[in-house]
Amino acid sequence: MGPGAPAGISRSLTRACLTISWTFQNRSVPRFLIQHGRAARCAQTAAAPAAQPRIKKFQIYRWDPDTPGDKPRMQTFEVDLNACGPMVLDALIKIKNEMDPTLTFRRSCREGICGSCAMNINGGNTLACLNRIDTNTSKSTKIYPLPHMYVVKDLVPDMSNFYAQYKSIEPYLKKKDESQEGKEQYLQTVEDRQKLDGLYECILCACCSTSCPSYWWNGDKYLGPAVLMQAYRWMIDSRDEFTEERLSKLQDPFSLYRCHTIMNCTKSCPKGLNPGKAIAEIKKMMATYKEKKAAAV
Ligand code: SF4
Ligand code: SF4
Ligand code: FES
Repeated sequence: MGPGAPAGISRSLTRACLTISWTFQNRSVPRFLIQHGRAARCAQTAAAPAAQPRIKKFQIYRWDPDTPGDKPRMQTFEVDLNACGPMVLDALIKIKNEMDPTLTFRRSCREGICGSCAMNINGGNTLACLNRIDTNTSKSTKIYPLPHMYVVKDLVPDMSNFYAQYKSIEPYLKKKDESQEGKEQYLQTVEDRQKLDGLYECILCACCSTSCPSYWWNGDKYLGPAVLMQAYRWMIDSRDEFTEERLSKLQDPFSLYRCHTIMNCTKSCPKGLNPGKAIAEIKKMMATYKEKKAAAV
C-alpha cells in the first residue's frame, strides 16, 4: 500500500496511479493536475460501493407439449438489471443461460434484422431485441408468444401457415419471356426503385399480421398485412410483368378484402413500416383493374 493511499486501494492500483503521474510529469504536464486528477479517479474506482440490486420480475408464458399433462402457465423469473443488458432479449438470454435452460424462444441477429424474436411484450407485438426493458422494478414485464398462433413451445409460434401464405404470392420477379434470364441485369429508373422504399425492408417478423383482428379470425383464408404488403411490393416493381395476374389471385372475399382498415398492423410494426397503407393501395389497384377488365368484355 502506498503512503497516504485511501483505504481499500490495492498496492498495484496505487503504484499504477503514481507511475502514470510520473510519466506525465516528464512531459511537463502540471504536477498538481495529474496527481490530483488521477488520485481522485483511483480513489473513486476503489471506493465505489456495490450497486444496489435492481430486481425486475419477468412473467413468461410456458408450455411444453413434450411433457405429458403440461398446461400453459406463467412463470416468474427475477433478474438483476445491474447484471443484464438493456433489451428484453438480453433478459431472456440471461434467464436461459443462468436460471432455466429449458426456456425456449427464437432469436438470431439480436439487432432487428432476422425477425425471429417477435413476441408479445406487455401487450404489444414487437421484437425482443429492439424492446428496452422497462426499468420500473415495481412492475413486472409480461411476455407471451405472438397472439392467435399455434404454439410449438413456450415463446415459439408455429409459422407454417404464415410462410405458406407468403409462398402463395410468389414473392420473386416474374417475366413473361424468360429466354433472356440471366443474360443481363433488369434495370430500373431511380424513381421506380424508390417506389419500393418502405416495402422491401420488411423482415417478415409477423408482428403486424398477428396483431390484426381480421387475421386472428380468418388467418386460414385472409393473407394478412405482412403477406399483402409483399404482394404489393411485387405488383409495383417496374421489372415484374405479372401485375394483373397477381391482382386477380386476390380476387375473392377473403385474401384481401378481410382488411377493414383497423390499422393495428401499422401501429405494431417494429420496423416503422405501413402495411395498412400498402393494402389500401392494392384495393385502389384492384378497382382500376376491375374497371379495365369490365371494359374489355
Ligand atoms: S389495417 Fe387491415 S391488415 Fe391492418 S390490422 Fe387493420 S384489418 Fe388488419
Ligand atoms: S411489415 Fe413490419 S411487422 Fe409486418 S412483417 Fe414486416 S417488419 Fe414485421
Ligand atoms: S433477434 Fe433478429 S430480429 Fe430480434
